[in-house]
Amino acid sequence: MKNITDFETVGLNADNSALVIIDQTKLPNEIEFLSLSSQPEIWTAINTLQVRGAPAIGVAAAIGVYLAAKSIDTADYNTFRARFAEAKRYLASSRPTAVNLFWALDRMEKTVTPNRPVSEIKQALLNEALAIKNEDISVCKAIGEHGLNLINDGDGILTHCNAGQLAAVSYGTALAPVYAARERGYKLKVFADETRPLLQGARLTAFELSARGIDTTLICDNMASQVMKNGWIQAVFTGCDRVAANGDVCNKIGTSGVAILAKHYGVPFYVCAPTSTIDISTAVGGDIPIEERDPREVTDMWYEKRMAPEGINVYNPAFDVTPGDLVTAIITEHGIIKPPYGEKLINN
Ligand code: MRU
Repeated sequence: MKNITDFETVGLNADNSALVIIDQTKLPNEIEFLSLSSQPEIWTAINTLQVRGAPAIGVAAAIGVYLAAKSIDTADYNTFRARFAEAKRYLASSRPTAVNLFWALDRMEKTVTPNRPVSEIKQALLNEALAIKNEDISVCKAIGEHGLNLINDGDGILTHCNAGQLAAVSYGTALAPVYAARERGYKLKVFADETRPLLQGARLTAFELSARGIDTTLICDNMASQVMKNGWIQAVFTGCDRVAANGDVCNKIGTSGVAILAKHYGVPFYVCAPTSTIDISTAVGGDIPIEERDPREVTDMWYEKRMAPEGINVYNPAFDVTPGDLVTAIITEHGIIKPPYGEKLINN
């Protein structure tokens, strides 16, 4: 089998005609690449988590809207701009919570400026999409180096969901410090929450960590208290889909429970987030739109037959908000931010 560490999670193909992603719905059993060029294909890939994780969604959207722009057949700026806005709106509707989606689309839109030929705008959009992708790699590397200062050789690390290579172009956010530590020869023990209901921890985090030869133990979400009680966890590292201006952090459902446990057991709870995940226009975590997904993800998806009575009510939020006062530090590409957050996040 090909080794996952040899590939980027999301990118553009050689002739700039398709978004290329690893289909994450097939992992860990198959490493399958998809080349997507139509807008419905790209929308569906984001919506169904074929590409997922806040930074990777942002890069996919940037490349997606470039591909939309490339196919707009007009030399008239106003017509081009209106059709670009339509394509942007469409991709923005693919998922509601990760702010990187909107951040990347807004950044792409800033490139659409008048008084130059449409062909030049298209070239600028290509450059911007590639810049967003390449910056993601350097930003995640920098998060890894800063986060390394919070890790000691031999530590046990708990992580939730997948905020590694598969959630970004490479490295990832929450796993970047783990990868930086490994490069220095540290021996860490990583505990991966399986992350119900879509199993990003079991399918993706356990997969990419073990592909790198990192000592990895998979646990069900409801075992996190036990491993902390056992004294096996020295730090929790998670990723993030949106940081509100007050330091509340929104991440995969179950993260807030882990933060509450970490406080109880006196374990530091670190959130890794590129500055593109900080949304100072959202004042508090309660203002962040929380995606609710298909009930069948809970009742049917991983079972040979349905495992809940027909007609049962199901609540399936994909994210939750951890109050900033449970977050020991937020690690961005610029460094480690400690509470109180407010001003420090705005000026980061
Ligand atoms: O629903 P997903 O798989 O897109 O959720 C992903 C997460 O919650 C990640 O922890 C978050 O996006 C940070 S990824 C660096």
